[in-house]
Amino acid sequence: MLTNDQLSKWDRESFFHPSTNVGQFARGEGAQRIIAGAEGVHITDRDGNRLLDGFAGLYCVNVGYGRPEIAEAIARQAHELAYYHAYAGHGSEAAITLAKMVMDRAPKHMARVYFGLGGSDANETNVKLVWYYNNIRGLPQKKKIISRWRGYHGSGLMTGSLTGLELFHKKFDLPLAQVIHTEAPYYYRRKDAAMSEEQFSAHCAEELERLIAAEGADTIAAFIGEPVLGTGGIVPPPKGYWDAIQKVLARHDILLIADEVVTGFGRLGSMFGSDHYGMVPDIITIAKGLTSAYAPLSGSIVGQKVWEVLMQGSDEYGVFGHGWTYSAHPIGAAAGIANLRLIDELGLVENAGTVGRYLNDRMRAALGDHPNVGEIRGEGMLCAVELVRDRQTRGFFDAAEGIGGKAVAAMLKRGVIARAMPQGDIIGLAPPLCLTEAEADVIVDATADALRETLG
Ligand SMILES: Cc1ncc(COP(=O)(O)O)c(C=O)c1O
Repeated sequence: MLTNDQLSKWDRESFFHPSTNVGQFARGEGAQRIIAGAEGVHITDRDGNRLLDGFAGLYCVNVGYGRPEIAEAIARQAHELAYYHAYAGHGSEAAITLAKMVMDRAPKHMARVYFGLGGSDANETNVKLVWYYNNIRGLPQKKKIISRWRGYHGSGLMTGSLTGLELFHKKFDLPLAQVIHTEAPYYYRRKDAAMSEEQFSAHCAEELERLIAAEGADTIAAFIGEPVLGTGGIVPPPKGYWDAIQKVLARHDILLIADEVVTGFGRLGSMFGSDHYGMVPDIITIAKGLTSAYAPLSGSIVGQKVWEVLMQGSDEYGVFGHGWTYSAHPIGAAAGIANLRLIDELGLVENAGTVGRYLNDRMRAALGDHPNVGEIRGEGMLCAVELVRDRQTRGFFDAAEGIGGKAVAAMLKRGVIARAMPQGDIIGLAPPLCLTEAEADVIVDATADALRETLG
């Protein structure tokens, strides 16, 4: 077995880590953690630390770590059929079964699921589907995609453009011209403090209406949004938001893509965020919770309206020319089947609702009155604590102070992993859906303790 020192050296010399300050890392500065194993909601690192993973990896290990049912399904599949492609009508028992399971759980108006590998490629697929759809309909100029500031949809060229966070744009020449952003449904940060949630939702819909009028509805193909803003700060929508937005989209023949990479398969306490908020999307993006990240797999669930046009397209123009070598990979599919079965058997959708509510309630009871806690918000097994310099004015800390990062580091010292969300001083929590109330208590106590250390 390699020593920690050896691994650490190779890591610094050889490994180009994603979303990392690569200069610091290469120079031997900045965090380095080598994960050795994991069980339930805990991970262990090579230095012997055992940490409660309050972010389920990257909100993806929904069933928790170390599930033998999924590991065995993957091993069985690798022995039987590690790979065959899915082009030109080919399939495997695993991929076909998983497609059926996904469609059985999806909203009734959805027609088919296309499988990819991760959330970013699934959203790339979605944009191509939307462009193809409008070309087949004879609307070649109707191509722009509207996304929200603070939305997160991936970090490819198109999906990084859809993402509405500065970090993912600057110095990458993004966003691309076909993408435009509208206001985030971020009620806490509304300009007019007197607005009710409903009024703020109406305001967001008016802003969208204005943007559409300025660009021309005949140039806009789709609107993409996460049911709950995730990486942008874990922000549930204000009351009436999705209803107001959908009315605008319907008026202008604009498709709705619900990016359910985080919310799909139970995180909100409902199977899909679309069910949770009464959304009727034309396309749903799924990834993370589909396999609980035991193997990479994503999907684009396509509604009947779009599907019919895609069929018409291939009748007129031949093969639908879009695919990845690893689309519907049998090992990912086997993981997905075992994972969805576990979610049902263990009642994890329900658990996300009940223990998630407990986590949020306890967090509010412990920290709701703290002078630097601006807002505690969440839905299902998602919780955010937004830190402010001044509660009255909702004033920010100086970004250079890095208060969010410091708070999260102080939580880590107490054995709990949270995520400092990339924009603002926001502590993000998205634990595995199997979290117990006792584990939720550990998270809340660590958060409260960490804020005492960081802010007094
Ligand atoms: C809502 C949402 N969409 C898309 C993605 C991109 O997924 P991936 O990182 O698998 O490409 C993410 C990742 O966090 C996400 O949260």
